[in-house]
Amino acid sequence: MEFRFDITKIFKENISRIGNSLLPNGFIASDRRCALDTTAYVAEIINTVGQASAAAQGLNHPVTTSDRLRNSDDQVIYLMTENNGRSGLVLGLLKIGRKSLYVFDQNGDTRHVNAPCVLDFYIHELRQRAGLGKVLFEYMLEQENFTPEELAIDRPSEKLLSFLRKHYGLSTKIPQMNNFVIFDGFFGSQKSAR
Ligand code: ACO
Repeated sequence: MEFRFDITKIFKENISRIGNSLLPNGFIASDRRCALDTTAYVAEIINTVGQASAAAQGLNHPVTTSDRLRNSDDQVIYLMTENNGRSGLVLGLLKIGRKSLYVFDQNGDTRHVNAPCVLDFYIHELRQRAGLGKVLFEYMLEQENFTPEELAIDRPSEKLLSFLRKHYGLSTKIPQMNNFVIFDGFFGSQKSAR
């Protein structure tokens, strides 16, 4: 995915962590003007990739927008980019965040959890099934110190369910009444408040 500006000036690493400042982790703006311009560019990128993700999932509205990220205290986007020797490419994104959820445990009892959630995940169509999703997901797990089983997944697509089964052996779901999917091991591995 290309943009009308040079994204290699904004993203120095292949994966960047972006919080509500809309500036990539470690980005040092030379002055206020530069910070404002960069924020506007990152907002445009997030909105464009968010739209592409929604289209890929057949959603009418994007789950990921720059406004939502800006207004959130704990949502984080991991953005994957590639320096192609020109103005750079955006390859995909992974959005996570904590949610207060009521979920059923294995016995069907309701539990209140503050769980880390996978909220949006997208790799560009031309680059899917080449291992990039795994690289992005692994990076997020390492940075956040999460295990795959402690994550709640918001409305996973069949592709994401297949991804989680293939790479992490997550296949046994604990049935829920909401849109979140949790897997066997969720309650054993969680560090979340209950
Ligand atoms: N059909 C079925 N399974 C798929 C597909 C597909 N078209 N694409 C990826 N997968 C799964 C499979 O398990 C695949 O293994 P296989 O090729 O041996 O069958 C595995 O993912 C491949 O792993 P990666 O190459 O590391 O994954 P990829 O880079 O393709 O990223 C992702 C996975 C993010 C799900 C990507 O396919 C994608 O963007 N899909 C479209 C958008 C989407 O469905 N996002 C998840 C929405 S739900 C949510 O975000 C909470």
